[in-house]
Amino acid sequence: MTEQRIYLDSAASTPVADEVIQEMIPYLKQQFGNPSSIHYFGREATRAIQLARKRVAGLVGAAKPQEITFTSGGTEADNLAIKGTADYARSKDPSKNHVITSYIEHDAVLEPCRDLERLGYSVTFLPVTQEGLVRPEDLKGAITPSTALVSIMHANNEVGTIQPVKELARIAHDAGALFHTDAVQAAGKMPVDVRDLGVDLLSMSSHKINGPKGVGALYIRDGLEIMPIIHGGGQESAMRSGTENVPGIVGFGKACELAGGRLPEYQRQVSALRDYLIEKVLSEIPHSRLNGSKTNRLAPNAHFTFFGVNGEDLIIKLDEDGIAASTGSACSVKKQKPSHVLKAMGFSYEEITGSLRISLSMQNTKEEMDRTVSALAGVVKELRSLSPFKSKYYT
Ligand SMILES: Cc1ncc(COP(=O)(O)O)c(C=O)c1O
Repeated sequence: MTEQRIYLDSAASTPVADEVIQEMIPYLKQQFGNPSSIHYFGREATRAIQLARKRVAGLVGAAKPQEITFTSGGTEADNLAIKGTADYARSKDPSKNHVITSYIEHDAVLEPCRDLERLGYSVTFLPVTQEGLVRPEDLKGAITPSTALVSIMHANNEVGTIQPVKELARIAHDAGALFHTDAVQAAGKMPVDVRDLGVDLLSMSSHKINGPKGVGALYIRDGLEIMPIIHGGGQESAMRSGTENVPGIVGFGKACELAGGRLPEYQRQVSALRDYLIEKVLSEIPHSRLNGSKTNRLAPNAHFTFFGVNGEDLIIKLDEDGIAASTGSACSVKKQKPSHVLKAMGFSYEEITGSLRISLSMQNTKEEMDRTVSALAGVVKELRSLSPFKSKYYT
């Protein structure tokens, strides 16, 4: 491996931007104070968090910075939204014990929902279309007077499908339920405006948009009450106790500012590169297919099935060629289970095993796409020659 490595897994994580690192450094060194302290060092840390809160609020159009609660990442934001809302709703009205989500959510939503079932709530998991879209009429059919919360992700982390969040939120509200969206993949990669969408809660994560890992946020609409899930010293208006991750929060704030500033250029550049890649893959690699929606799709996402190969073998071979891609969610790969997202989209076992996610960034180039497609074509051909499906797909 002499050539430069190519990183095509921005949906899993991204490098921390230089400007972000520069803003973080003082809060790791000189300005190391605890924001709860009254003295100068504490006040400086508090001031930095306030600025970050403003910047994060700005990225998603929140009217007030106080509507942003910092968390340890997208996973905690999702847990807080789901468990905090369900707990509060049932404490006020025991009949409010129903939550609706979809089969294609990230585990950070699915697992807290399953935990709610263990705690006696009922949870409805909505199906999706073959493109990975939740049908508004399915939500209408599932919602009842006991529904406390509907949680549907903004953009899917595997196939990049963008959900009709505005319409789904309206349906939830018309039926007296609250609406949460996991916007971990969407915020910073497409316009996201909490007021325009009409959502009550929205989750974000820093490391998907060139911020540091281990920090995220939950937007909680002003006036909405939910229960905290972490109890202690009362930080973050008692919504998330624990000494704040000041350098991380500062970095996240800067990452949001950068992402907001470059958004139109990001969308234009990254989606053009993605379309170039898709066109080249489909025309140069036989028996390949694009998965997900052609139109309602996140700019960086391309998701394929290569019939007759195993996606994990593909990743390993590409890695040997210096190319980093993924079969889908980094977390589900570790669990070694077939993608629940593709299963819900009605894919066969063969379609699921042959799948590959490529997620781009502004750092990627056309030359990298050319090198990737040429490597992919070779690897797919080689794997097909070894596969039991050889006669069907090997050319
Ligand atoms: C849609 C979605 N939700 C939640 C998460 C979890 O975010 P974090 O890694 O910040 O915990 C991810 C991460 O991959 C994601 O893609």
